Amino acid sequence: MPMYAHIVGVGSYLPERILSNTDLERMVDTNDEWIVSRTGIQERHLAADDEATSDLAALAGERALVSSGISKADVDLIIVATSTPDMLFPSTACLAQKKMGLTCPAYDINAACTGFVYALQAAVASIESGRTRTVLVIGADALTRYVDFTDRGTCVLFGDGAGAVVLQAGAEPGVRGIVLGADGSGADMLKVPAGGSAAPATVERIEAHDHYLKMSGNEVFKFAVRVVPRVTTEALEASGMSIEELDWLVPHQANQRIIDAAAERLGMPSERVFSNIARTGNTSAATIPLALDELYTSGRLAVGNTMALVAFGAGLTWGAAVITWTLPHANKED
Ligand code: UT7
Repeated sequence: MPMYAHIVGVGSYLPERILSNTDLERMVDTNDEWIVSRTGIQERHLAADDEATSDLAALAGERALVSSGISKADVDLIIVATSTPDMLFPSTACLAQKKMGLTCPAYDINAACTGFVYALQAAVASIESGRTRTVLVIGADALTRYVDFTDRGTCVLFGDGAGAVVLQAGAEPGVRGIVLGADGSGADMLKVPAGGSAAPATVERIEAHDHYLKMSGNEVFKFAVRVVPRVTTEALEASGMSIEELDWLVPHQANQRIIDAAAERLGMPSERVFSNIARTGNTSAATIPLALDELYTSGRLAVGNTMALVAFGAGLTWGAAVITWTLPHANKED
């Protein structure tokens, strides 16, 4: 009998502190009207000073485990997708493992905003091969730690957060086709130039703001509008499904205009396209698991619903997964 991986638990965490567009108006030359009309973002969450990515990851991971009802001792592997690790090493997955009180192997994947889809692929491959049975996949980022709050072109876009799913082996298909892509020739479009081995931190580099995120917004925008419909279609083909069979399109939350353009190209009606960007901004590797938790918790997901998850980001990287939801609804707000 073929072995499939399916989602048996989901959870998320958004830090308490909120940064509104009005707050940003006091920091840079911007305004609410520009931010909302160009991005769809109204507010974003900011990690507290004493909260690191592993804290966000651990809280989301704990919540996903509670929702699965699976005991910590039964988790075989933790994969954390992040591009904003607590530190260069040890991995954020090891730090979150300790905070959650788990003992299994743990490692990070860095595919920037596409990280969750990449981590899903690694988890699914591990489960389908029979090497693991239960895998905790977390997408967690604290990008506001790397945002230059003097650069209005980027500082309005990002927020912090984490989301997680528990995947387990089963006989019924859960995760169907996954398609990933990368093109390192686009590396300069979105990067944090300093602080790594190519340009270690120096006073000069810090003074030049080189340890902050730099982005060619327009180029990334055009790439995203092209790649999202393409990779979604490829993942549907790999799953033997058509766009009409999808109950939900769950896109990476980077810009509402990218989401709308991609949905239109795919012919997906807007009421079946998930968006929470107004309240979260771009939380990088966390956007998709945060979306899954919100859809689930609000009762909008039923067993048997099929959705496409699709992301893009620095690298350049992109990826899409088609999954059938198998977690019975439990209203966590009751
Ligand atoms: O997860 C992946 C990561 N990133 C993305 O997916 C982001 C992709 N790119 C985008 O979302 C958009 O390119 C942005 C939202 C970053 C920018 O929107 P845009 O419509 O491409 O604006 P633009 O960069 O072409 O700038 C238009 C104008 C410029 O002024 P001038 O030169 O026309 O006078 C900017 O200086 O808007 C100005 N501008 C702003 N004005 C007020 C740029 N940022 C701001 C701002 N507030 N925050």
